[in-house]
Amino acid sequence: MGKLYVFDHPLIQHKLTYIRDKNTGTKQFRQLVDEVAGLMAFEATRDLPLEEIEIETPVAKAKTKVIAGKKLGLVPILRAGLGMVDGILNLIPAAKVGHVGLYRDPETLQPVEYYAKLPSDIEDRDFIVLDPMLATGGSAVEAINSLKKRGAKSIKLMCICAAPEGVKVVQDAHPEVDIYLAALDAQLNDHGYIIPGLGDAGDRLFGTK
Ligand code: PRP
Ligand code: URA
Repeated sequence: MGKLYVFDHPLIQHKLTYIRDKNTGTKQFRQLVDEVAGLMAFEATRDLPLEEIEIETPVAKAKTKVIAGKKLGLVPILRAGLGMVDGILNLIPAAKVGHVGLYRDPETLQPVEYYAKLPSDIEDRDFIVLDPMLATGGSAVEAINSLKKRGAKSIKLMCICAAPEGVKVVQDAHPEVDIYLAALDAQLNDHGYIIPGLGDAGDRLFGTK
């Protein structure tokens, strides 16, 4: 079974409070999502393997470490996942970015894929799927299906806010995928919204209603 991490770092928890607050406007919401995504990526990349290389500092030769192994791919689920990309690219500028476009049918709550474009060297990358919200889990499961169908072998899922129902759906469908969260909330309401959650992440990020 993949691991479930809920980051309790004070900076993440502090910023999450203002992400949740309904009085936080679009500009600040976007900024905070960006910052939390970066902080989460810092924690979620702790297991990246290192290798030793030799360099010369201005005063001596030195054996120092660099990240080894496969390269990273970020896959935001459109739209709201886009809000998490830049914060991570600030830390890992060499990561490639694929996109999977999904929307939840408001009647059935089922995800509908409308776009997919991924890096060509898909089998050689470690992917992190990004979406601020993991509610019923349908969108995340579908996005991971989409990556696997195209050959991805290594996938993590990073969401800011999740409902237990969604976590279980992802774990059942993709038991090997590690899940990284800033918060595991109480439950879903009848409309598939996370309680207490933060509302509609896409609308709050992009100022739409
Ligand atoms: C929201 C959110 C997730 C999805 C989560 O997207 O950004 O992608 O719902 O719900 P689920 O776990 O029940 O599938 P939405 O469909 O509203 O599209 P948007 O990002 O374009 O606003
Ligand atoms: N999508 C959102 O944007 N918010 C929720 O609470 C659930 C799904």
